[in-house]
Amino acid sequence: MLIYVNQDSQQFHLTNGQVSYIFHVMKNGQLGHLYYGKALRHRTDFSHLQIYDVPTAASCHVYEDDPAFSLETLRQEYPAYGNSDFREPAIGVRKRNSSHIPDFKYKSFRVLEGKPRLDYLPATYAEDNQKASTLQIILKDKYLQAELTLNYSIFRDLPVITRSASVKNNGPLNLVIDRLMGASIDFPDKEFLFIHLAGAWSRERHVKERILESGTQSISSLRGASSHHLNPFLALKRPNTTEHSGEVYGFNFVYSSNFIMQVEVDHYDTARVMVGIHPFGFSWNLKTEESFQTPEVVMVYSDQGLNGMSQSFHTLYRDHLIPSRWKKEERPILINNWEATYFDFNEEKLVNIAESARELGIELFVLDDGWFGKRNNDTSSLGDWQVDENKLPNGLESLAKKISDMGMEFGLWFEPEMISPDSELFREHPDWAVGMSGQPYTLGRNQLVLDFSRPEIVDYIYQKMADIIRKTNLSYIKWDMNRNITEPFSQKLEPNRQGEFFHRYILGVYYLYGRLTKEFPNVMFESCAGGGGRFDPGMMYYAPQAWTSDDTDAIERLKIQYGTSFAYPIYSMGSHVAAVPNHQTMRTTPLSTRANTAYFGIFGYELDPLLLSEVERIEIKKQVAFYKQHRGLIRDGQFYRLLSPFSGNETAWMVVSQDRTEVLVGWYKVLATPNSLKHQTLRLTGLDESLVYKAEGGGRTYYGDELMQVGLPLPTEFNGVNSGNATRSGDFQSRVFYLNSINR
Ligand code: DGJ
Repeated sequence: MLIYVNQDSQQFHLTNGQVSYIFHVMKNGQLGHLYYGKALRHRTDFSHLQIYDVPTAASCHVYEDDPAFSLETLRQEYPAYGNSDFREPAIGVRKRNSSHIPDFKYKSFRVLEGKPRLDYLPATYAEDNQKASTLQIILKDKYLQAELTLNYSIFRDLPVITRSASVKNNGPLNLVIDRLMGASIDFPDKEFLFIHLAGAWSRERHVKERILESGTQSISSLRGASSHHLNPFLALKRPNTTEHSGEVYGFNFVYSSNFIMQVEVDHYDTARVMVGIHPFGFSWNLKTEESFQTPEVVMVYSDQGLNGMSQSFHTLYRDHLIPSRWKKEERPILINNWEATYFDFNEEKLVNIAESARELGIELFVLDDGWFGKRNNDTSSLGDWQVDENKLPNGLESLAKKISDMGMEFGLWFEPEMISPDSELFREHPDWAVGMSGQPYTLGRNQLVLDFSRPEIVDYIYQKMADIIRKTNLSYIKWDMNRNITEPFSQKLEPNRQGEFFHRYILGVYYLYGRLTKEFPNVMFESCAGGGGRFDPGMMYYAPQAWTSDDTDAIERLKIQYGTSFAYPIYSMGSHVAAVPNHQTMRTTPLSTRANTAYFGIFGYELDPLLLSEVERIEIKKQVAFYKQHRGLIRDGQFYRLLSPFSGNETAWMVVSQDRTEVLVGWYKVLATPNSLKHQTLRLTGLDESLVYKAEGGGRTYYGDELMQVGLPLPTEFNGVNSGNATRSGDFQSRVFYLNSINR
């Protein structure tokens, strides 16, 4: 049993032995929050968890003159504003042309086995009903004649609870929703550090940390995408929590558009966490009988530090978020022609690249931007999804056939949501662009955005893409999105519905993804938005892998991949070996270090193999073979962060198989140290103490406890004099170690 209901005291307890989440119906009929954290044993009464301390009548506003009951101090489950709680609310809903203080009172509950999917929205799922249970609480606002449903699901084997909300209009008049959060939680104290992932194009998801303080601290996006800048991920960790121990609460929003994640610390030092669609500019009209469903919030509790939290996210997303078709599938090693050719290619050049890559063992050839319309640079042709016959006179079909005849899979780049002002499509349908006719448009990368809030436009793009998929027998699509949304208006929406635009837009994107993935289940989608500008769980529901960043520099990637791993599995991160000097940083790193970083993701190459030396080709063949041997471990293993690139010169991470018999360790040192320690070791974690492990290529064996307490010896670094026995030197050193157990 995962959900307990104390009927008499109207208390609800979700627990699976790892986590507990407890709330109840308060005396005013609203929901009060009681506890969220490490599992508590169930009991028939939890009322003592509600703290009724009302400070003094003079400093507090009390409910119906009951001095012991104040919404200002009580922890609530889904708060409203205007009835003595002065903090920001989870809900704002009213009748059109009027104002209202929402007053949703408890009506009933439902417990469901399993986890129902959300209409039109991505969300975590449980294919086996035994793996999750769902509690729905129904509340009613009499004046509005509206029903609010709060959905809570708990996964059987993971410390994970998901939440979402929906409002239904049961009355005769139109309602307007001004805000509707996916979840709100009132923590009893503020003793946390606020951790999030921030960045920009080419340096996405760097880990940031700050102390929670009085007032509101938030991360958000108003860009129409989850963004490069602030990822929809937030963790609250206790001050003494480390990577391996201590408490942390992680929140991730399954949504790819405007969001807010905020923590409001009030004058009593309590912390209200709220996650949802950003209320700025948002409003949604609800006619009679219509409902509005929020996206889902995933909440992970860990008492095993940040690694514990990340591992729960990783397992959840692998088993309960990505399309099940790809859960157990090994992803092909790809070569992408973007950094090899940019827009300058023809069929012969592409076929030569593919052939040369095939000889290296690479399995999938991806043709990136520039194959359609008259796209010789980034100023034209988006929307004109017909092959450019100047570059590919025999058509895409011929190229696809040549690739498949050589035994490789074929993949193609699209940017379905975009339209270039210089395109046939724009000349024919200028009103298809997002914006208001007659008003200036802002260009981003010389392009405009197609109005995906309009089903007929989404349908048009579907026809174009489906036609190409069928003709070329594609096995992979890279779905790019290279600008954010400005002038966020649709020429088809009524003026009083423009507040719906952003959400309708992303519903259009999800609809197209859903339709294509359903019709072509064998096409692997990789999401991309100028690199990692839409790396979020909403995308992952359709596209099991994402292009992590346009930055392919191995050293920059250490931070990007390390940060991304806070919430997302490494087997969702596209990570490629690129040429040097690197195109984003001009840095030159060893080929081995580029691969050693890229192995911890979905591996590929982003270079011209025809320009490689024979020595490099031999090395790459070995890299390809190495990744093929270990990609099952990368996919299924437990990932641990060991040394952070944000706090020192060295980075390390490792993957351990579920049975703990296989281990892959990555170690990286950015700058060389003169006169360094000769016997440096790296302490591992997550091993079986009693197993004996042997490193591939090395003679020595180690017990698991030795590797965890003493560490894995690193090769000797050049210290100025020891050139005889030093095996590493210079900047950008790295090593990957594969160990497996020899006594099991
Ligand atoms: C941005 C992507 O991240 C790149 O990999 C490449 O596909 C370009 N767009 C193409 O325009």
